[in-house]
Amino acid sequence: CSFSSSKLSRCVLFISLFFTFFLAMHTSAHRLQRVPNPGPSPAPTPKPKPGPSPGPAPEPAPPKAHNMTFPAIFAFGDSILDTGNNDYIMTLIKADFLPYGMNFPDGVPTGRFCNGKIPSDFIADYLGVKPIVPAYLRPGLTKEDLLTGVSFASGGSGFDPLTPIVVSAIPMSKQLTYFQEYIEKVKGFVGKEKAEHIISQGLAIVVAGSDDLANTYYGEHLEEFLYDIDSYTTFMANSATSFAMQLYESGARKIGFIGISPIGCIPIQRTSRGGLRRKCAKELNFAAQLFNSKLSTSLNALARTLQNTTLVYIDIYAAFDDMIQNPKKYGFDEIDRGCCGTGLFELGPLCNKFTSLLCKNVSSYMFWDSYHPTERAYKILSQKFVENDMGPFYENK
Ligand SMILES: *[C@@H]1O[C@H](CO)[C@@H](O)[C@H](O)[C@H]1NC(C)=O
Ligand SMILES: *[C@@H]1O[C@H](CO)[C@@H](O)[C@H](O)[C@H]1NC(C)=O
Ligand SMILES: *[C@@H]1O[C@H](CO)[C@@H](O)[C@H](O)[C@H]1NC(C)=O
Repeated sequence: CSFSSSKLSRCVLFISLFFTFFLAMHTSAHRLQRVPNPGPSPAPTPKPKPGPSPGPAPEPAPPKAHNMTFPAIFAFGDSILDTGNNDYIMTLIKADFLPYGMNFPDGVPTGRFCNGKIPSDFIADYLGVKPIVPAYLRPGLTKEDLLTGVSFASGGSGFDPLTPIVVSAIPMSKQLTYFQEYIEKVKGFVGKEKAEHIISQGLAIVVAGSDDLANTYYGEHLEEFLYDIDSYTTFMANSATSFAMQLYESGARKIGFIGISPIGCIPIQRTSRGGLRRKCAKELNFAAQLFNSKLSTSLNALARTLQNTTLVYIDIYAAFDDMIQNPKKYGFDEIDRGCCGTGLFELGPLCNKFTSLLCKNVSSYMFWDSYHPTERAYKILSQKFVENDMGPFYENK
């Protein structure tokens, strides 16, 4: 997720753009619905709850559960897996206010960058671990919460150490420190041997890199002067691989890195780099693919040196791209704008219950805000992941 102060000023620029767009869109304003339900009461307080009709679409059937279960799940990386850690740190990158979370159980915003559940939750659920994965920094976690795994991920983080610094997110190195602290707690609960079993047999998933490319490399223009994209993606992949090694050294033995999606096609990139027709930004998609191929190669090379370990690269690019190319196949009507607000630029504080309109049917949108997929898109992608990509973890190791 991206939100730096320089981004903020850029977004202010977008707001003026927004009015231009808004005029154009006003004629087809049926698409948009005020967040509050305009009842007969004149109360101006916006209500984030959508009407009863625009509920989420019928749920896709859960994937077949495998007979092998993981004792725990551990998530690392950025907003795609952050289940609320940023609620407890000083950063602008937050999602602990409505309409974020409006389709989460009880309609509660939790800090998940989505209208509902995110991949850490879906993957844990489909693997039979638990229905939702708590954020490690959430106060009051129970023993049971901890023993079955938590998320250490932080919206805005990345493999480039500069990426989390710019937005005050939790760096990957700090996520590892928390993981080690967590392991000590687990040892305290169940003893060393049982703890080592939980850590080695638990599934560790890592998703990061989008913010390095979208925010740091292309967003801040800082690194553009220091690196070409080939060197930068090599640097990212090396940093990711060293993270994998550190997870291994901490005791993890089942580790999956999910690659980057076609980030040039997310709404905010279409708006800022896609020209008047808001096409996908080719250079970002190219960079994403370049990083993915380097990540895959260097993780595979490391995996060959590690015994009794499953360390894999998992591609998300193709599945995500198929959704963008064939939206109807997945029941999506809108793939180039987010549901929140105009969908062209709103993200974080600009997607809020006071100024943002919501789309009529969030289930028919692929994107929730201008950066993050909707719960339904995440659900479909997570389902594919559990059905198609878990094979290596079930081989005897
Ligand atoms: C789990 O499934 C595999 C094949 O899918 C089978 O060979 C194995 O016997 C099963 N194990 C148990 C404990 O059911
Ligand atoms: C790998 O697992 C086998 C069987 O459990 C064990 O004997 C061996 O010591 C392990 N190797 C390492 C490097 O942990
Ligand atoms: C919302 O969109 C989903 C997915 O396309 C569709 O299945 C559902 O019928 C739509 N609901 C309404 C109320 O239009």
